[in-house]
Amino acid sequence: MKKYENALLLVGSPKGSLSSSVSLGNSLTLSLEELGLSIDTEYLYKLVKKEDGQKKLISKVEDADLIILAFPLYIDCLPAGVIKALELIAIYRQSMSNPKKQGFVVIINCGFPETQHNNVAVSICKIFAREVGYEWKGALALGMGGAFGGKSLEERGGMVRNVIKGFDIAAQALSEGEKIPEEAIELVGKKFMPITLYTKMGNLGWNIQAKKFGARKKIRDQPYL
Ligand SMILES: Cc1cc2nc3c(=O)[nH]c(=O)nc-3n(C[C@H](O)[C@H](O)[C@H](O)COP(=O)(O)O)c2cc1C
Repeated sequence: MKKYENALLLVGSPKGSLSSSVSLGNSLTLSLEELGLSIDTEYLYKLVKKEDGQKKLISKVEDADLIILAFPLYIDCLPAGVIKALELIAIYRQSMSNPKKQGFVVIINCGFPETQHNNVAVSICKIFAREVGYEWKGALALGMGGAFGGKSLEERGGMVRNVIKGFDIAAQALSEGEKIPEEAIELVGKKFMPITLYTKMGNLGWNIQAKKFGARKKIRDQPYL
């Protein structure tokens, strides 16, 4: 199997460096770096809006052996900026007579506690890989994404030990040009705190934000009913 020399992390959250997507993406790329790959990171929302950014995206993608796309789930699907990036890549790849063989991996996190909300988005990414001729290396998906909030996985500590272990196993396989093993996918997708605790923390977070913006009394409003 061919070993990859470099990997490109594409962060697909509009929250950029404060996102859970970058925390998760960095965890995988740090392990890959330790295994000898050189790593480049780009933020899709910075690139897709203007022509020079779009050109930069295509040239970065073209140079990569392994492309890692990390993004949040939006309405059971991909955020608009990520869809735009994939469309640009597809147009470029379809214009080439002999497109380069490259590996493609996705990391998806969602706000609901259960991992399976990401299933449709995983399928969309898999179909994208097939359509543009990328080698599909697998998807690492998880729920409870709100627990990361831009912090590194190490900062989150023992609570996310299975996620860290899953990323390590995935990195080892990817560095050898192999697909992400099922064991890694399961470890990353395992719930890492009780759902009731996650929901309580989420509710607390909403209340703190409502207070900050003077909207405490409006939090239960349903304006579209
Ligand atoms: C517009 C929007 C749509 C969302 N849709 C979903 C959804 O369908 N299912 C879900 O579980 N979480 C959904 N979320 C929550 C995000 O996936 C979650 O907050 C995630 O952890 C954000 O990751 P990030 O920090 O990488 O952006 C949505 C968030 C936003 C802003």
